[in-house]
Amino acid sequence: MPPLPIWSSAMSEFSHPTVRLPSGERVPQLGQGTWGMGESVRMRKDEVAALRLGIDLGLTLIDTAEMYGDGVAEEIVAEAVEGRRDECFIVSKVLPENSTRAGTIAACERSLRRLKADRIDLYLLHWRGRPRLEETLSGFEALSDAGAIRYWGVSNFDIKDMEELCALEGGTACATNQVLYNLRRRGIEAGLLSWCRGRGIPIMAYSPIEQGRLLRDRVLTAVAIRHRATTAQIALAWALRQPDMMVIPKSATLEHVRENRAALDIRLTDQDLAELDRAFPPPKRPRPLELL
Ligand SMILES: NC(=O)c1ccc[n+]([C@@H]2O[C@H](COP(=O)([O-])OP(=O)(O)OC[C@H]3O[C@@H](n4cnc5c(N)ncnc54)[C@H](OP(=O)(O)O)[C@@H]3O)[C@@H](O)[C@H]2O)c1
Repeated sequence: MPPLPIWSSAMSEFSHPTVRLPSGERVPQLGQGTWGMGESVRMRKDEVAALRLGIDLGLTLIDTAEMYGDGVAEEIVAEAVEGRRDECFIVSKVLPENSTRAGTIAACERSLRRLKADRIDLYLLHWRGRPRLEETLSGFEALSDAGAIRYWGVSNFDIKDMEELCALEGGTACATNQVLYNLRRRGIEAGLLSWCRGRGIPIMAYSPIEQGRLLRDRVLTAVAIRHRATTAQIALAWALRQPDMMVIPKSATLEHVRENRAALDIRLTDQDLAELDRAFPPPKRPRPLELL
């Protein structure tokens, strides 16, 4: 596989790197996730404060889903973006069991109510379920025509699913494929990543620090020491080195949000990348897409 391009993202007016969606619109490369938010009333204030700080720092791409906290994560997003909705690019997702045409429309209406919003910027099918893709696509198109969503996309789609989707009428309008990608989960480098790149569909990388399981790694620690950074920052900088990939770490801790933002300023060297490749080898051959 050819070496992946090193950092050269387009910069937005706020000097944050951005990723181009197929429509030409640019969104921040580094965003914020919300899985795990909304599960404890005690944490709510911290979660809202963390998202607000992230927005202040330019992390205005916010990923949520009807599934997270059974909808409460969307309510937390609503609270965090209050008065600043237009600065933010909100992504939400429909569960597969709701993804018939009518089910998708109804799920989106529920999400909009929880988000206290009149539109979702990017609406994804969370993963493939039983309903036919045509059904979901038709629901997305109806929502788009009504102005309830601006773009639609998918999540956890492997190459075969993407091929099926793109063969459908209107299927190539897919704005992203959100998939698991981090140092320990590099499978997409053996196929899906270049498949999507070839069609101008950007990847949105979820669980970029493997839900915290990468934090104590010895090699990451060594690289982090050289950069006077944390292991989380190195894991993020590693994913962010690819200018056409959005990355959405979740954090409900103010200090972590600041750290994550600062990961945008880290440039990994060839030596860093070689050490990381040895510790976390890229895939030699295609393998099925992993999910969490
Ligand atoms: N489409 C899908 O199927 C799918 C699946 C999984 C995730 N996602 C999306 O992707 C987002 C991110 O993935 P994720 O939440 O699974 O995992 P993640 O972002 O890799 O890791 C989140 C964990 O890392 C901790 N953390 C964050 N920044 C840190 C830092 N600088 N230092 C130390 N710890 C740090 C967080 O704790 P603190 O909160 O204390 O900072 C949290 O425990 C999700 O929230 C969700 O929006 C989508």
